[in-house]
Amino acid sequence: MDGVLIRACRPDESEKWTEFLNRNFGYQTPNSYAVDFAPLFDSNALGHSRLAWINNKIASSATLYPTTAITPQQQIKLGIIGAVATSEEFRGKGLSQQLLQELEATARSLKLDALMLWSDQREFYTKAGFQQVGKQEVFGLADLPPPEMLMSGTAVYGWDWHQVRAIYENHPTRVQRTDAYWHALENIKSCTRVQWIDDTGTVLAYLGFDRGKDLHGIVHEWGGTPQALHCLLWVVLQNRPNLMWLTHPALEDPIRAALPTEPLSQSTLAFAKILNRSMSYESFENIWFWGLDSL
Ligand SMILES: CC(C)(COP(=O)(O)OP(=O)(O)OC[C@H]1O[C@@H](n2cnc3c(N)ncnc32)[C@H](O)[C@@H]1OP(=O)(O)O)[C@@H](O)C(=O)NCCC(=O)NCCS
Repeated sequence: MDGVLIRACRPDESEKWTEFLNRNFGYQTPNSYAVDFAPLFDSNALGHSRLAWINNKIASSATLYPTTAITPQQQIKLGIIGAVATSEEFRGKGLSQQLLQELEATARSLKLDALMLWSDQREFYTKAGFQQVGKQEVFGLADLPPPEMLMSGTAVYGWDWHQVRAIYENHPTRVQRTDAYWHALENIKSCTRVQWIDDTGTVLAYLGFDRGKDLHGIVHEWGGTPQALHCLLWVVLQNRPNLMWLTHPALEDPIRAALPTEPLSQSTLAFAKILNRSMSYESFENIWFWGLDSL
Protein backbone atom coordinates (compact mmCIF):
# COMPACT_ATOMS: atom_id res chain seq x y z
CA MET A 1 0.00 0.00 0.00
CA ASP A 2 1.18 3.53 -0.71
CA GLY A 3 1.62 6.10 2.05
CA VAL A 4 2.32 3.54 4.77
CA LEU A 5 5.08 4.15 7.28
CA ILE A 6 6.14 1.08 9.24
CA ARG A 7 8.26 1.35 12.39
CA ALA A 8 8.53 0.30 16.04
CA CYS A 9 6.34 1.94 18.67
CA ARG A 10 8.14 4.66 20.60
CA PRO A 11 7.58 4.77 24.39
CA ASP A 12 5.60 8.01 24.10
CA GLU A 13 3.25 6.35 21.59
CA SER A 14 2.29 3.34 23.68
CA GLU A 15 -0.91 5.00 24.91
CA LYS A 16 -2.04 5.59 21.33
CA TRP A 17 -1.19 2.01 20.46
CA THR A 18 -3.17 0.75 23.47
CA GLU A 19 -6.23 2.78 22.40
CA PHE A 20 -5.92 1.28 18.92
CA LEU A 21 -5.71 -2.26 20.33
CA ASN A 22 -8.57 -1.76 22.79
CA ARG A 23 -10.77 -0.60 19.90
CA ASN A 24 -9.86 -3.50 17.64
CA PHE A 25 -10.03 -6.21 20.31
CA GLY A 26 -13.25 -4.87 21.85
CA TYR A 27 -11.90 -3.92 25.27
CA GLN A 28 -14.06 -1.63 27.41
CA THR A 29 -12.60 0.55 30.18
CA PRO A 30 -11.32 -0.29 32.79
CA ASN A 31 -10.10 -3.42 30.93
CA SER A 32 -7.27 -3.05 28.50
CA TYR A 33 -5.18 -5.11 26.10
CA ALA A 34 -2.06 -3.47 27.52
CA VAL A 35 -2.93 -4.76 31.01
CA ASP A 36 -3.80 -8.31 29.94
CA PHE A 37 -0.61 -8.53 27.85
CA ALA A 38 1.63 -6.24 29.87
CA PRO A 39 4.95 -7.91 28.92
CA LEU A 40 4.45 -6.83 25.28
CA PHE A 41 4.48 -3.19 26.39
CA ASP A 42 7.55 -3.38 28.56
CA SER A 43 10.06 -0.74 27.40
CA ASN A 44 12.49 -3.52 26.38
CA ALA A 45 9.82 -5.16 24.24
CA LEU A 46 8.62 -2.07 22.33
CA GLY A 47 11.60 -2.19 19.98
CA HIS A 48 10.26 -5.40 18.41
CA SER A 49 6.83 -3.93 17.70
CA ARG A 50 5.74 -2.87 14.22
CA LEU A 51 3.12 -0.19 13.70
CA ALA A 52 1.85 0.74 10.24
CA TRP A 53 0.96 4.46 10.16
CA ILE A 54 -1.29 6.03 7.54
CA ASN A 55 -1.91 9.80 7.71
CA ASN A 56 -0.43 9.92 11.21
CA LYS A 57 -2.86 7.29 12.48
CA ILE A 58 -2.09 3.69 13.44
CA ALA A 59 -3.62 1.49 10.74
CA SER A 60 -2.18 -1.87 11.76
CA SER A 61 0.12 -3.42 14.36
CA ALA A 62 1.94 -6.59 15.42
CA THR A 63 4.75 -7.37 17.81
CA LEU A 64 7.34 -10.01 18.58
CA TYR A 65 8.33 -11.16 22.06
CA PRO A 66 11.41 -13.44 22.05
CA THR A 67 11.46 -16.08 24.78
CA THR A 68 12.66 -19.63 25.36
CA ALA A 69 10.40 -22.60 26.02
CA ILE A 70 11.99 -25.27 28.18
CA THR A 71 10.81 -28.88 28.03
CA PRO A 72 12.56 -31.98 29.45
CA GLN A 73 13.65 -32.85 25.89
CA GLN A 74 14.79 -29.51 24.52
CA GLN A 75 14.85 -25.73 24.63
CA ILE A 76 13.06 -23.89 21.85
CA LYS A 77 13.77 -20.26 21.07
CA LEU A 78 10.42 -18.70 20.32
CA GLY A 79 9.11 -15.43 19.03
CA ILE A 80 5.67 -14.93 20.55
CA ILE A 81 3.52 -12.85 18.22
CA GLY A 82 0.94 -10.52 19.71
CA ALA A 83 -1.10 -7.36 19.16
CA VAL A 84 -1.99 -8.33 15.57
CA ALA A 85 -4.76 -6.00 14.45
CA THR A 86 -5.78 -3.74 11.58
CA SER A 87 -8.28 -0.88 11.73
CA GLU A 88 -11.55 -1.84 10.10
CA GLU A 89 -11.15 0.72 7.30
CA PHE A 90 -7.81 -0.77 6.23
CA ARG A 91 -8.58 -4.49 6.49
CA GLY A 92 -8.06 -6.83 3.56
CA LYS A 93 -5.23 -4.74 2.06
CA GLY A 94 -2.38 -6.98 3.18
CA LEU A 95 -1.18 -4.84 6.10
CA SER A 96 -1.17 -7.63 8.70
CA GLN A 97 0.57 -10.01 6.34
CA GLN A 98 3.22 -7.38 5.69
CA LEU A 99 3.81 -6.81 9.40
CA LEU A 100 3.97 -10.56 10.07
CA GLN A 101 6.58 -10.87 7.33
CA GLU A 102 8.65 -8.14 8.96
CA LEU A 103 8.44 -9.88 12.33
CA GLU A 104 9.44 -13.16 10.72
CA ALA A 105 12.51 -11.50 9.21
CA THR A 106 13.44 -10.13 12.66
CA ALA A 107 12.92 -13.58 14.21
CA ARG A 108 15.20 -15.14 11.61
CA SER A 109 17.87 -12.55 12.25
CA LEU A 110 17.62 -13.35 15.98
CA LYS A 111 17.97 -17.07 15.04
CA LEU A 112 14.68 -17.97 16.71
CA ASP A 113 13.41 -21.51 16.10
CA ALA A 114 9.75 -20.65 15.61
CA LEU A 115 7.01 -18.08 15.80
CA MET A 116 4.07 -18.81 18.09
CA LEU A 117 0.74 -17.21 18.88
CA TRP A 118 -2.76 -17.66 20.28
CA SER A 119 -5.76 -16.83 18.13
CA ASP A 120 -9.19 -17.88 16.94
CA GLN A 121 -8.38 -16.55 13.42
CA ARG A 122 -7.51 -19.97 12.00
CA GLU A 123 -7.95 -19.14 8.33
CA PHE A 124 -5.89 -15.96 8.51
CA TYR A 125 -2.91 -17.63 10.24
CA THR A 126 -3.06 -20.75 8.07
CA LYS A 127 -2.74 -18.45 5.05
CA ALA A 128 0.31 -16.94 6.74
CA GLY A 129 1.93 -20.40 7.01
CA PHE A 130 1.12 -21.22 10.68
CA GLN A 131 0.03 -24.66 11.92
CA GLN A 132 -1.89 -25.61 15.04
CA VAL A 133 0.35 -27.26 17.63
CA GLY A 134 0.31 -28.59 21.18
CA LYS A 135 -2.54 -29.51 23.46
CA GLN A 136 -4.41 -28.11 26.41
CA GLU A 137 -7.11 -29.55 28.64
CA VAL A 138 -9.64 -27.85 30.89
CA PHE A 139 -11.10 -29.76 33.84
CA GLY A 140 -14.07 -28.93 36.04
CA LEU A 141 -13.36 -28.71 39.78
CA ALA A 142 -16.89 -29.07 41.15
CA ASP A 143 -16.21 -32.65 42.29
CA LEU A 144 -12.71 -32.10 43.60
CA PRO A 145 -12.41 -34.25 46.75
CA PRO A 146 -11.28 -32.45 49.91
CA PRO A 147 -7.58 -32.81 50.74
CA GLU A 148 -6.87 -35.89 52.89
CA MET A 149 -5.37 -33.66 55.54
CA LEU A 150 -5.72 -29.89 55.82
CA MET A 151 -2.13 -28.73 56.30
CA SER A 152 -1.33 -26.01 58.76
CA GLY A 153 -0.97 -22.83 56.78
CA THR A 154 -3.08 -20.12 55.21
CA ALA A 155 -4.34 -19.10 51.79
CA VAL A 156 -3.11 -15.55 51.24
CA TYR A 157 -4.21 -13.43 48.28
CA GLY A 158 -1.36 -11.96 46.22
CA TRP A 159 2.00 -13.59 45.52
CA ASP A 160 5.32 -13.27 47.26
CA TRP A 161 6.98 -12.90 43.86
CA HIS A 162 10.41 -13.98 45.03
CA GLN A 163 9.21 -17.26 46.50
CA VAL A 164 6.71 -17.98 43.74
CA ARG A 165 9.46 -17.46 41.20
CA ALA A 166 11.60 -20.12 42.89
CA ILE A 167 8.71 -22.63 42.80
CA TYR A 168 7.97 -21.75 39.17
CA GLU A 169 11.52 -22.58 38.23
CA ASN A 170 11.02 -26.18 39.42
CA HIS A 171 8.62 -26.85 36.57
CA PRO A 172 10.39 -29.10 34.05
CA THR A 173 8.22 -27.56 31.31
CA ARG A 174 7.98 -23.79 31.33
CA VAL A 175 8.97 -20.54 29.69
CA GLN A 176 12.30 -19.05 30.69
CA ARG A 177 11.10 -15.86 32.37
CA THR A 178 13.59 -13.04 32.61
CA ASP A 179 13.64 -10.39 35.36
CA ALA A 180 11.91 -7.99 32.96
CA TYR A 181 9.23 -10.58 32.26
CA TRP A 182 8.51 -11.16 35.97
CA HIS A 183 8.38 -7.43 36.51
CA ALA A 184 5.94 -7.01 33.62
CA LEU A 185 3.74 -9.83 34.99
CA GLU A 186 3.13 -7.78 38.12
CA ASN A 187 1.44 -5.22 35.86
CA ILE A 188 -1.17 -7.72 34.76
CA LYS A 189 -3.88 -6.62 37.17
CA SER A 190 -6.61 -8.68 35.51
CA CYS A 191 -5.58 -11.79 37.42
CA THR A 192 -6.29 -13.07 40.93
CA ARG A 193 -3.25 -14.59 42.62
CA VAL A 194 -3.25 -16.73 45.76
CA GLN A 195 -0.56 -18.61 47.66
CA TRP A 196 -0.41 -21.15 50.48
CA ILE A 197 1.95 -20.00 53.24
CA ASP A 198 3.02 -22.25 56.09
CA ASP A 199 3.55 -21.14 59.70
CA THR A 200 7.16 -20.16 59.00
CA GLY A 201 6.20 -17.80 56.16
CA THR A 202 7.31 -20.20 53.42
CA VAL A 203 5.21 -20.28 50.25
CA LEU A 204 4.43 -23.93 49.44
CA ALA A 205 2.01 -23.47 46.54
CA TYR A 206 0.53 -20.77 44.32
CA LEU A 207 -2.11 -20.32 41.69
CA GLY A 208 -3.58 -17.62 39.46
CA PHE A 209 -7.00 -17.30 37.81
CA ASP A 210 -9.27 -14.87 35.93
CA ARG A 211 -6.43 -13.61 33.76
CA GLY A 212 -7.80 -11.38 31.04
CA LYS A 213 -10.89 -11.95 28.94
CA ASP A 214 -9.86 -15.32 27.63
CA LEU A 215 -9.05 -17.03 30.93
CA HIS A 216 -11.86 -15.79 33.13
CA GLY A 217 -12.94 -18.55 35.55
CA ILE A 218 -9.88 -20.67 34.78
CA VAL A 219 -6.91 -21.47 37.02
CA HIS A 220 -4.31 -20.91 34.32
CA GLU A 221 -1.14 -20.98 36.39
CA TRP A 222 -0.21 -23.09 39.40
CA GLY A 223 2.70 -24.78 41.15
CA GLY A 224 4.00 -26.19 44.42
CA THR A 225 3.75 -29.38 46.43
CA PRO A 226 0.73 -31.60 45.72
CA GLN A 227 -0.63 -31.36 49.25
CA ALA A 228 -0.27 -27.58 49.63
CA LEU A 229 -1.69 -26.96 46.15
CA HIS A 230 -4.69 -29.16 46.90
CA CYS A 231 -5.33 -27.32 50.20
CA LEU A 232 -4.99 -23.95 48.49
CA LEU A 233 -7.35 -24.90 45.69
CA TRP A 234 -9.85 -26.33 48.16
CA VAL A 235 -9.96 -23.09 50.13
CA VAL A 236 -10.25 -20.95 46.97
CA LEU A 237 -13.10 -23.14 45.67
CA GLN A 238 -15.21 -22.33 48.74
CA ASN A 239 -15.64 -18.82 47.28
CA ARG A 240 -15.35 -19.72 43.59
CA PRO A 241 -16.94 -23.18 43.16
CA ASN A 242 -17.14 -22.89 39.36
CA LEU A 243 -13.43 -22.42 38.70
CA MET A 244 -11.83 -24.68 36.08
CA TRP A 245 -8.30 -26.07 35.85
CA LEU A 246 -6.02 -25.65 32.83
CA THR A 247 -3.39 -28.30 32.21
CA HIS A 248 -1.60 -30.43 29.61
CA PRO A 249 -1.53 -34.25 29.37
CA ALA A 250 2.27 -34.36 29.65
CA LEU A 251 2.61 -31.97 32.59
CA GLU A 252 3.59 -33.16 36.04
CA ASP A 253 0.33 -31.97 37.51
CA PRO A 254 0.30 -32.32 41.32
CA ILE A 255 -3.47 -32.57 41.54
CA ARG A 256 -4.09 -34.70 38.44
CA ALA A 257 -5.03 -37.72 40.59
CA ALA A 258 -7.83 -35.67 42.14
CA LEU A 259 -9.20 -34.39 38.80
CA PRO A 260 -12.10 -36.05 36.95
CA THR A 261 -11.01 -38.69 34.40
CA GLU A 262 -12.48 -36.72 31.48
CA PRO A 263 -11.66 -33.06 30.78
CA LEU A 264 -14.46 -30.60 29.99
CA SER A 265 -12.57 -29.69 26.84
CA GLN A 266 -9.43 -30.56 24.93
CA SER A 267 -8.01 -28.30 22.26
CA THR A 268 -4.85 -27.29 20.48
CA LEU A 269 -2.64 -24.92 22.40
CA ALA A 270 -1.47 -22.45 19.78
CA PHE A 271 -0.36 -21.67 16.23
CA ALA A 272 3.30 -22.05 15.30
CA LYS A 273 5.48 -21.42 12.27
CA ILE A 274 8.78 -23.25 12.39
CA LEU A 275 11.80 -21.29 11.15
CA ASN A 276 14.54 -23.77 12.12
CA ARG A 277 14.57 -26.53 9.53
CA SER A 278 15.90 -29.11 11.97
CA MET A 279 12.70 -28.87 14.05
CA SER A 280 9.38 -30.54 13.39
CA TYR A 281 5.83 -29.60 14.33
CA GLU A 282 5.61 -32.89 16.29
CA SER A 283 8.35 -31.66 18.62
CA PHE A 284 5.91 -28.96 19.78
CA GLU A 285 3.36 -31.45 21.11
CA ASN A 286 4.63 -31.28 24.70
CA ILE A 287 5.38 -27.60 24.73
CA TRP A 288 3.56 -25.63 27.41
CA PHE A 289 3.18 -22.04 28.53
CA TRP A 290 2.25 -20.79 31.92
CA GLY A 291 0.38 -17.63 32.52
CA LEU A 292 -1.02 -17.70 29.06
CA ASP A 293 -3.03 -17.24 26.83
CA SER A 294 -0.17 -15.18 25.70
CA LEU A 295 3.14 -15.35 27.47
C1 LIG B 1 -7.38 -10.54 11.49
C2 LIG B 1 -6.85 -9.17 11.06
C3 LIG B 1 -5.67 -8.82 11.92
C4 LIG B 1 -6.44 -9.24 9.58
O1 LIG B 1 -5.82 -8.01 9.22
P1 LIG B 1 -5.71 -7.53 7.68
O2 LIG B 1 -4.73 -6.44 7.62
O3 LIG B 1 -7.06 -7.26 7.18
O4 LIG B 1 -5.15 -8.85 6.99
P2 LIG B 1 -4.50 -8.92 5.54
O5 LIG B 1 -5.13 -7.90 4.65
O6 LIG B 1 -3.02 -8.89 5.69
O7 LIG B 1 -4.99 -10.37 5.09
C5 LIG B 1 -4.12 -11.35 4.64
C6 LIG B 1 -4.92 -12.50 4.10
O8 LIG B 1 -5.73 -13.06 5.12
C7 LIG B 1 -7.10 -12.98 4.75
N1 LIG B 1 -7.86 -12.61 5.94
C8 LIG B 1 -7.79 -11.44 6.59
N2 LIG B 1 -8.60 -11.47 7.67
C9 LIG B 1 -9.18 -12.68 7.66
C10 LIG B 1 -10.11 -13.32 8.49
N3 LIG B 1 -10.64 -12.69 9.56
N4 LIG B 1 -10.49 -14.57 8.20
C11 LIG B 1 -9.97 -15.20 7.12
N5 LIG B 1 -9.07 -14.65 6.28
C12 LIG B 1 -8.68 -13.41 6.56
C13 LIG B 1 -7.16 -11.90 3.70
O9 LIG B 1 -8.27 -12.11 2.82
C14 LIG B 1 -5.87 -12.10 2.98
O10 LIG B 1 -5.95 -13.23 2.12
P3 LIG B 1 -5.32 -13.18 0.63
O11 LIG B 1 -3.83 -12.99 0.86
O12 LIG B 1 -5.68 -14.49 0.07
O13 LIG B 1 -5.96 -12.01 0.00
C15 LIG B 1 -7.96 -8.07 11.20
O14 LIG B 1 -9.14 -8.57 10.64
C16 LIG B 1 -8.26 -7.62 12.63
O15 LIG B 1 -7.64 -6.68 13.12
N6 LIG B 1 -9.20 -8.29 13.33
C17 LIG B 1 -9.54 -7.92 14.72
C18 LIG B 1 -8.42 -8.25 15.70
C19 LIG B 1 -7.98 -9.71 15.59
O16 LIG B 1 -8.80 -10.62 15.61
N7 LIG B 1 -6.66 -9.92 15.48
C20 LIG B 1 -6.05 -11.23 15.39
C21 LIG B 1 -6.00 -11.80 16.72
S1 LIG B 1 -4.60 -12.75 17.05
